[in-house]
Amino acid sequence: MFKVVKKQFLNEAKTICLFEIEAPLVARHAQAGQFVIFRLDEQGERTPVSVAGYDREKGTVTVMVQAAGRTTKMLHTVEEGDYITDFVGPLGHPTVYDGLKKVCVVGGGVGCAIAYPIAQEMYKRGIEVTFIAGFRSADIVILKEELAACSHKLIMCTDDGSYGEKGFTTQFLKQEIDANIAEGKPQFDRVIAIGPDIMMKFLADVTRPYGINTIISLDPIMVDGTGMCGGCRVIVGGQTKFACVDGPDFDAHQVDFDNLLKRAAFYKEEQDKAAQHICRMTGGKRNG
Ligand SMILES: Cc1cc2nc3c(=O)[nH]c(=O)nc-3n(C[C@H](O)[C@H](O)[C@H](O)COP(=O)(O)OP(=O)(O)OC[C@H]3O[C@@H](n4cnc5c(N)ncnc54)[C@H](O)[C@@H]3O)c2cc1C
Ligand code: FES
Repeated sequence: MFKVVKKQFLNEAKTICLFEIEAPLVARHAQAGQFVIFRLDEQGERTPVSVAGYDREKGTVTVMVQAAGRTTKMLHTVEEGDYITDFVGPLGHPTVYDGLKKVCVVGGGVGCAIAYPIAQEMYKRGIEVTFIAGFRSADIVILKEELAACSHKLIMCTDDGSYGEKGFTTQFLKQEIDANIAEGKPQFDRVIAIGPDIMMKFLADVTRPYGINTIISLDPIMVDGTGMCGGCRVIVGGQTKFACVDGPDFDAHQVDFDNLLKRAAFYKEEQDKAAQHICRMTGGKRNG
């Protein structure tokens, strides 16, 4: 059993919540870019979430989770002092920072939470970080101060202009790339993008003509997280890869986005039904 030592909603709309979980063995090895799989109880679904932080001395791991469907909504009802049944990890490869000097990190929605420890790590290593954080509207913006503290330049934007700049991450990324060229500044060695699949697809289209190496973190449906079930397969460079063991980071210019988007939509109907279900066994407090 794993104790929830801290719970904190990260935005006004309470769509994303931080959980600090006591898990000393996971905390000992966790690195930015990796993920864990948790189960709320014996009957619970196995749900992957990224490592958003860790404290090796305290033996805790932090995750930031968006209430997307059944399990994540149930997680949001867990309180400090409660226990969850499983918290397995770290899984997947950590993000690599080989020879990087100047990087643009782009986060979309909860993707900002996943990108945050990566930006922090690069900032600590002296890499110049530009962070572009995009959200639909002001009420769901997260980590304002935290992102400012780990980037040399931070652009916050919302689709409706209710917070920061008005517009999409793609347009601000293009603007930054073009400004580097116009002002004779060194270009980004890499763009790291984490967010909705469709955002990552369009960001890859932005960087492709400039030849800027672009890494994205994929979050396809996962079951075991150990390369056994094939549920997380993605096509990268014409080859089948398993996001759980080969990723989750991949070269965006090699990812088959049409296949990715098709597979992501496959279980939508079942997920919508599950999200509507109210469990009578829990008195309606949690779906089940
Ligand atoms: C490597 C990885 C890291 C992730 N990191 C985070 C994170 O840090 N924070 C966060 O909020 N979310 C993260 N996710 C997404 C998170 O796993 C899903 O939101 C969660 O599984 C939804 O489950 P649900 O039962 O609440 O919703 P459902 O109703 O089951 O689904 C809602 C959405 O989540 C996706 N999803 C459902 N089950 C899975 C699954 N087993 N694996 C992957 N996606 C699934 C569906 O495609 C759907 O779009 C990550 C996913 C992966 C694969
Ligand atoms: S989750 Fe089963 S192979 Fe990746």
